[in-house]
Order: sequence, then structure tokens, then C-alpha cells
Amino acid sequence: MKMDAIELVYLLSAALFIIGLKRLQSPATARRGNQLAALGMLLAVAATLFLQEILSPVEMIGGLAAGGLIGLVLARRVRMTAMPELVAAFNGFGGLASALVAGAEIARFADQSESPEFSTLLTILLSILIGTVTFAGSFVAFGKLSGRISGNPVSFSGMRWITLAVALGCIAAMVWAHLSADVTQLSTAVMVLGAIALLLGLQFVLPIGGADMPVVVALLNSMSGLAAAATGFVLSNTALIVSGALVGASGLILTNIMCVAMNRSLLNVLMGGFGSESSDVEAAPKLEGRPITSTTADDTAILLSYAQKVIIVPGYGLAVAQAQHQVRELAELLQERGVEVKYAVHPVAGRMPGHMNVLLAEANVPYDQLFEMDEINHEFETTDVALIVGANDVVNPAARTDRSSPIYGMPVLNVDASRAVVVLKRSMRPGYSGVQNALFFASNTRMLFGDAKDSVTALIGEVKAV
Ligand code: TAP
Repeated sequence: MKMDAIELVYLLSAALFIIGLKRLQSPATARRGNQLAALGMLLAVAATLFLQEILSPVEMIGGLAAGGLIGLVLARRVRMTAMPELVAAFNGFGGLASALVAGAEIARFADQSESPEFSTLLTILLSILIGTVTFAGSFVAFGKLSGRISGNPVSFSGMRWITLAVALGCIAAMVWAHLSADVTQLSTAVMVLGAIALLLGLQFVLPIGGADMPVVVALLNSMSGLAAAATGFVLSNTALIVSGALVGASGLILTNIMCVAMNRSLLNVLMGGFGSESSDVEAAPKLEGRPITSTTADDTAILLSYAQKVIIVPGYGLAVAQAQHQVRELAELLQERGVEVKYAVHPVAGRMPGHMNVLLAEANVPYDQLFEMDEINHEFETTDVALIVGANDVVNPAARTDRSSPIYGMPVLNVDASRAVVVLKRSMRPGYSGVQNALFFASNTRMLFGDAKDSVTALIGEVKAV
């Protein structure tokens, strides 16, 4: 009877996870989707703890309150640009939790002097392996993203062979665990597996450049889901299997979306060497020497005020400058003057999936003014001004035309087709890919140099004065 009730709650939780995921598809429903999925998780945790009487009610409520408070403080305090590193830390803890639970199962077997069946042992070992690799890898990713460790790819000759040897070491430890004569030997083999898997996690992420970390974080997110699902099999817990499988699948889909949008294979990302910390200052400016046209806020304000149609293209610089509120205010001012204003959002603009959508939603930009690349790309030809706010790679026409460019083949926003392009950035420094942008040197482009927030604030003042 009690088990039936638990399974019923798990079924409800699974339904809430799936409805929640579905609702994340659109910015308009994403907030509610997140709340539904969180409710599903709360129900699953409560059913496991209360109905199985694992802890006393006071302990459970104390634990939930402490965890909830830490989550609340973290979520309120984290800067939007630091979101990928927070997700990396969450993934790391998820992986560690899975590995610890699987390790505790081994300890339980040791206490009872019993040996687990082959299938149970295999899931325990997989959970420890994937969980520990995820833990170590995620904390390297966290360190690189937060600048605590160098974002440059760490590699030396023979590194790949060492990684291969470490991976083989993990397999050897798993075989040893399977062949162990008694539970004491099994426990030792499991501890050795954990130690080697820790090394494998470090080896996995260290050679990858800091700027590629968002893709790695999505992959590690998927791995943390797989580790949770494996732990779910160990504990015969349906909620954990379902939620782990959903995280595993969605993380993998997200990794694929990011790779496709950057026109790079996952292997190319994992092989590292792209987007190192220094790439944005060391890039070869092969366009150097060609003239650029810089402009001022008052000239740009006139251009914008007398336009019929303006498309705003946000990029990573918008997040750095935190200029989203000013951008919305400028758009509203122009709309009041009868200008048609739309926003073009590239799938990998910024540094994390949905980065621009989140920023613009925070500033209350109406969702119906936001357009994805495929929906809006044909409209630039009929646009008077494309206003680029801190975007660079995602508007680089070389991705369409220059076969020698590292970003050749990456789908980009065709802003160069607009009658006029105004680029808001601080300098001529390239963006994430380290490639100089031919758009900045085009005859219909004007550069408005400065921090995006300052420039847009100045534009607001000038548009009001026109
Ligand atoms: P980027 O190409 O990185 O360019 C951002 C530009 O913003 C820089 O050129 C920078 O120029 C400018 N900027 C920085 N701070 C600024 C500020 N305070 N005010 C004004 N401008 C500022 O950005 P993007 O066009 O959004 O492209 C994203 C890149 O990240 C793509 O290459 C993509 O593949 C990669 N990436 C994205 C993701 C996801 S999921 N979004 C994940 C991994 C990698 P200045 O320094 O001259 O100001």
C-alpha cells in the first residue's frame, strides 16, 4: 500500500518533469515550466523521505529548509554572466551525490558481508565512474569559468596517451571489483576506481579552452543525469531513473544544439585548443589597416529616429554591460516615434543557451518582439538600421563567405544586408572565436565605441532630443 502511494507520487513527479521541460520551449511559459519541474522534484523527495520513513520529520524539514535557503541565496546573488559556472557546480555536486550513494550501497553490502549480483555491481560501478568523472570535470569547468584556474587549454605531448591509460585503469578497476573474492577486496577496488575516475575527470576537462566550457558544462550536465539514472537502478528508485534519464537526454540534445549552432563537432570541442583565454587579444587582425567609420550617439540617434524598421541584435557584450533595461527603453522610445523594432536572437549569442532571452525577459521585452535567426534572417534586406549591441561572432559575414575562417559554416545573422549597421562595442577586439570581423570594415557599418550601457543611455538622451 505504502509502496503503491510512493510509485503514484513518482508517476506524478515524472509527469511534472515532462510538462515542465515542454514548457521550457518558450520564454512565455518557461518560468511556469521551471516551477512545475521543481514541484515534481519536491514531491519525489518528500515521498521518498516521508513515506519510507528514512528520516524523522524534523530532520527532513530541517534539511529541506537548509537546502532551500542555500539555493535561494545562490540564485538571488548570482550574476547572469556567472550562471554557467553555477550550473557547473550544481552538476559537480549531482555527480558526487550519485557516486556517494552508490559507494554507500557497497558499504551496506560490506556490512552485511554479502556480495552484490553482477547487474547490481555493474550499475554501482557505472554510477561511481560517471559520477566521479562528472564531479572532477565540473569543478575544473567551474574553476575555468570563474577564473580561479587558467582558461587556457592545458596540454602537453603524450597527454592523450596518459588519458587513454587512465581510462583503461578505470576499466581494470571495474574488472577487479567484479572478480573480487570478498567484500573487503571489492571495497578496495571501488575506492581505487573512485580515485582513478577523479583523475580521468581532470584529464577530460583540463585540455579544453575556457571559452568552450559552456558546451562542456552541457555535456557534464548530461553525464550527471546518467550517473543519477544509474544510481536510480542501484536503489530501484523510479523517480531517480526517470529524472536522471531526462537530464541525460536533454543535456545531450543541448550539447548537440550548441555544437550545430557553432558549426563544430563535439569531438572538435573536446579536442580543445579553440577559444582559449588569450585568443581574443592575440587574434591576427588580418583586416587591420582597412578604414573603419566611427560614429557618435547623436548621429546614431538621428539615424534610428528617422528609420522605419530597426532590428536590435544583442550579444555577449549586452550581458557584460548589463544594458538590457536601457535597450528596452530605447526600443520603446523608437516605437513611440512609429519605428518598427524587432530583436534578432542568435542561438549561441552570449555564453550560455538562452542567454539573450533571459536578459531580455528580465528587462520585460515583450516575447513577440523576439525573433530567432531563421525567422528573421530574411528581414535584414528590408531593414533600415541593424543595431548590434555587444555581438560580434554571430554577425560575422566571413562565416558565410571566407572558407579560411575558423568560424566558416557557422550560421550567422545577415545584418550586413541592412541599409545601415551600427555596432556598439568598446574596441576593435574580436569576440569569443578570436577572429576579426569584416562587418566592422564594411561601407554601410558605423562603429559606436564605448560600454554598451553608456552608449545606449546616451542614445536614449539623444533620441529624446531629436
Ligand atoms: P562575441 O563574439 O564573444 O563578442 C562579444 C563582443 O562584445 C566582443 O567583441 C566585445 O568587444 C563586446 N563587449 C564586451 N563587453 C562589452 C561591453 N561592456 N560593452 C560593449 N561591448 C562589449 O559574442 P557573440 O556575438 O554573442 O557570440 C557568442 C560567441 O560565443 C560565439 O562565437 C559562440 O559560438 C560562442 N559560444 C556561445 C555559447 C552559447 S551557448 N551562447 C557557448 C559557447 C560559446 P569589446 O571587447 O571591443 O567591447
